[in-house]
Amino acid sequence: MAESFDNIIVTGGCGFIGSNFVHYVIENDLVGHVTVLDKLTYAGNPRNLNGLPEDRVELVVGDICDAALLDRLVPGHDAIVHYAAESHNDNSIADPEPFLKTNVEGTYRLLQAARSHGVRFHHISTDEVYGDLALDEPRRFEPDDPYRPSSPYSSTKASSDLLVRAWVRTYGVRATISNCSNNYGPYQHVEKFIPRQITNVIDGVRPKLYGDGRNVRDWIHTEDHSSAVWRILTEGRIGETYLIGANGERSNIDVLRAILERMGKGSDDFDWVRDRPGHDRRYAIDPSKLETELEWRPRHTDFLGGLDQTIAWYRQHESWWRPAKIAAEVRYAQFE
Ligand code: NAD
Ligand code: DAU
Repeated sequence: MAESFDNIIVTGGCGFIGSNFVHYVIENDLVGHVTVLDKLTYAGNPRNLNGLPEDRVELVVGDICDAALLDRLVPGHDAIVHYAAESHNDNSIADPEPFLKTNVEGTYRLLQAARSHGVRFHHISTDEVYGDLALDEPRRFEPDDPYRPSSPYSSTKASSDLLVRAWVRTYGVRATISNCSNNYGPYQHVEKFIPRQITNVIDGVRPKLYGDGRNVRDWIHTEDHSSAVWRILTEGRIGETYLIGANGERSNIDVLRAILERMGKGSDDFDWVRDRPGHDRRYAIDPSKLETELEWRPRHTDFLGGLDQTIAWYRQHESWWRPAKIAAEVRYAQFE
């Protein structure tokens, strides 16, 4: 029997994936009200919530590390869905500190608030906690695999997952965890691979491919991530970890060449650049637990069709991404 929720908190709801989830639950009338708690870092944009009814979505600008704020905010809500994070590997290599603060301390503060106020908690995490796989390895990540994070970012996400597991076992917090693969779609920050290359081509700048370009990511449309999180929140077993993926493995060079072809460029119109330190080789999710236990299926199974829609969205929303693009490329110029 599915659990129902009327008034939830979504942390990081002005970011890429969190805002998609807010649209998903409001537009499908799955909850009555959402309180978005977001610090509005460089990655948060309140415009991501445009079009949602003001009487059903409230934005509270604040930090998940602020325990006093959480104590005021959490009572009266029936669940916390925790997306807020520093989310970009390259930034974590340049400066790990904000990752420790938000991803580890922030998750700890939220768990304490969920514990004090008896609120259901769902933690959004990443497949990167499992490290990486070889290109020719005939297996994919499974929920009980050992944690082997490679980057400052993924090690802080792994730490946050372990905190959640401990708070379930020791304090009885009613929590679940999901570890998802690489998301794509509209509203993704232009520091990330797909939107960075699309906006480079729009700007007449050659895209940048790290290393030998053979690294593999397992792509999922962000709306499928949202539907899976809702399924886990309402029907998942407390204390369980569910892996979210849509069988979307592709090498970076294949994704880049698909973007170039769709945008009218030649297949070699890009620059090879220095590899990311510690660069994970391959991610691949085995989603069978989610599919068999919770009967979840992705809807966006046509990756190239989804890529076409994503390219069209960036072409049509330059005012949304332009300020972030300028700042992101200044950051990249410092370490490329
Ligand atoms: P994002 O960087 O686009 O958004 C993060 C949001 O969190 C922003 O709105 C930001 O303002 C907010 N935030 C950051 N620090 C905060 C703090 N201290 N207090 C309150 N708000 C804060 O991230 P995203 O790509 O949407 O990722 C969201 C979540 O999903 C993260 O937990 C990430 O680890 C996880 N995840 C992402 C992917 C992916 O492909 N992007 C895949 C799997 C899991
Ligand atoms: O797997 C889930 C993870 O996916 C999430 O936890 C992270 O929050 C999210 O950022 C993403 O991490 P990646 O490091 O895989 O994503 P990114 O978009 O940074 O890079 C994707 C791949 O593309 C990676 O192999 C590095 C490569 N790359 C990236 C950039 C920005 C390039 O070759 N060139 C680039 O300019």
